[in-house]
Amino acid sequence: MESVIVAIDGPSGTGKSSTSKAVAAKLGLSYLDTGAQYRAITWWMISNGVDVTDADAIASAAGKPSIVSGTDPSHPTITVDGVDASGPIREQDVTAKVSAVSAVPEVRARITELQRSIAAGAENGIVVEGRDIGTTVLPDADLKIFLTASPEARAARRSGELKGADVHATREALIKRDAADSSRKTSPLAKADDAVEVDTTDLTLQQVIECVVTLVEEKRAAT
Ligand code: DC
Repeated sequence: MESVIVAIDGPSGTGKSSTSKAVAAKLGLSYLDTGAQYRAITWWMISNGVDVTDADAIASAAGKPSIVSGTDPSHPTITVDGVDASGPIREQDVTAKVSAVSAVPEVRARITELQRSIAAGAENGIVVEGRDIGTTVLPDADLKIFLTASPEARAARRSGELKGADVHATREALIKRDAADSSRKTSPLAKADDAVEVDTTDLTLQQVIECVVTLVEEKRAAT
């Protein structure tokens, strides 16, 4: 079977991670969560006393941490300087600061290089999820998907994941983070011109997975 590179982008709460992992597992592909890498570098900055409101301080430290992503979709891992970071990167403090850290060009250059080398090394192919994969990281991906959903659906999903979080507060936080991710100068959250847009508002996760698997299979059959 030909190796295939699939880029899945979109804002938070559209089902990117669940869809990407399931599609990769179903098709025997590797999986990369690029948001986890930006969260990991943010966690390192916070833990090492870097002022995350100071873009110059972030830029100077961007090359320091060693970030390693495990790409098995049934057991994705992330370590920072050899330490498992999968728990701390989901904490509220990291979520609140990751947009500022990921907007710094030196951080993006460093993480983008890492992402390209992981994709190049994935023998059977890979599903890479993020915000700028189709536009910037892997512009030659075989298939680009852009997932969307209404703000209400996204907030409801995220507060379900965060067990009992207030839907209104989650909606406001999501909108704020998406606005920051979409308005930054360096590779903002955007749909690539050649991406297929899938609105997941009224779809179950299973339906989204089936839709993306079909798109990958059609692409493979056509090449
Ligand atoms: O997918 P996530 O919510 O874990 O991503 C965390 C943040 O990382 C998100 O707010 C923006 C940033 N990010 C990015 O700038 N580019 C990517 N390819 C992936 C994530």
